[in-house]
Amino acid sequence: MVRPVDLVVFGASGDLSRRKILPSLGRLLAREGSSIRFVGVGRSHKSEAEFSELVKETSKNQLLAARSAWVQLDYADPASFAPLNELLAGSQTAIYYVATPPETLGDILSSLVLSGLAAKTSATKRIVVEKPLGHNLASAHKLNVQLAQAFDEEQIFRIDHYLAKDTVQNVLALRFSNSLFEPVWNRNLIEAILITVAEAEGIGQRAGYYDQTGAVRDIIQNHVLQLLALITMEPPTTFDAEYVRRAKRAALRAMSPIEPGFAVRGQYEGYLNEQGVAAESRRETYAAMRVSIDNWRWDGVPIFVRTGKALRQRITEVVIKLRDAPMLRIGGRRQRGIPTLIVIRIQPDEGISLRIGAKRPGTGFEMVPAGMRLDYARLAKTVLPDAYENVLSEVLAGGHSAFPGAEEIELSWEIVDPLIRAWEGDGHPESYLVGSWGPHAADDLVANSGGGRWIVSGDEPGTG
Ligand code: BG6
Repeated sequence: MVRPVDLVVFGASGDLSRRKILPSLGRLLAREGSSIRFVGVGRSHKSEAEFSELVKETSKNQLLAARSAWVQLDYADPASFAPLNELLAGSQTAIYYVATPPETLGDILSSLVLSGLAAKTSATKRIVVEKPLGHNLASAHKLNVQLAQAFDEEQIFRIDHYLAKDTVQNVLALRFSNSLFEPVWNRNLIEAILITVAEAEGIGQRAGYYDQTGAVRDIIQNHVLQLLALITMEPPTTFDAEYVRRAKRAALRAMSPIEPGFAVRGQYEGYLNEQGVAAESRRETYAAMRVSIDNWRWDGVPIFVRTGKALRQRITEVVIKLRDAPMLRIGGRRQRGIPTLIVIRIQPDEGISLRIGAKRPGTGFEMVPAGMRLDYARLAKTVLPDAYENVLSEVLAGGHSAFPGAEEIELSWEIVDPLIRAWEGDGHPESYLVGSWGPHAADDLVANSGGGRWIVSGDEPGTG
């Protein structure tokens, strides 16, 4: 009989597991059907029946619930891993997925090694770790060293679920499979790049994590810099994961550390009243900054990124603003300039829009903004799978295209570390209204450094 894969989730009764891992796993298994034993591991006591009920409720998958097991252990005590070792005896493939608070990862890795559960053989063991890896460059480096002592690189999967979004992967296709775009993708024709990762929700029940983390560590260091690397990297030799990682590394290496003078932080009104937030917390729930890339392709092109909680709407987009074409005269009157915009809509309305200038229909010659759009969902002809379904599917298959490598993560910390240090050192974030676009200072940041203004689809004629 073929033994099922053992998916061992540390922190399986926690928030991430209930909200993302189990529902996605349930949908994935219902679609692709594969045999998995779901082993939940955590510090609390749970009966098998209790845990099986939790699995059933969150994954909506009876079979997964029936094939589940719960092991109680202490992450820092290798001796307490013995029952897990026993349960996994004879296991063909064990995947350890660490979905616990970030500070527990070091202990879990040590205990996996000391209890004999780690082995450098990708055929039988894999490890999946969540973002952010570490809380700065030094701690991330230490964890990477610890990971490398226990596992070979191909056994390690460092999650950045943005890379598992179809629309993020499609950036590669857009840039490198269309002869239309690549020739303009450089400082000669691109005037500015603006990235928005906005959420309408506040921090909800996640103060325990978020109040220690903040917007830069939660979103900029990982999701935004990965997205920016894909947007700005040189063409990879092939689309295979190793070559894409190599190209991203080079792009990240060319990004200068963020200058605190070119960054804005904010905290939404009411954050301090959220359950679990420290009194007088200075944690930022909004961050905007200018990123410079010092290489041949991007020298001098201003790049702006922003992210925040409790903003006007949930939207993730990349706006590429092209330089104006010459504005010709007609009848002595100068025609209106309409900057060309390429908008990559990552979510929720996935797709690509091209905003161009067109002649207003009818008599006379007058320029008006017009749009062309690709709706990704229509191309897919079905609902796009959640990023976590793609993450889990790739881990089960052993592929790496949705996972950043060790060095990319360290390079990304190098870019944001000086900003984090400066912000932790002093000052308070500016407060902003829930449902707004964040602090006004972020508008000045863009306006004063050659970016014009922040743009999201629908705000600008021709981008809706
Ligand atoms: C996670 C962050 O990585 O991404 C969360 O920890 C954030 O704070 C989430 O809400 C956003 O993901 P998505 O896929 O909804 O954009």
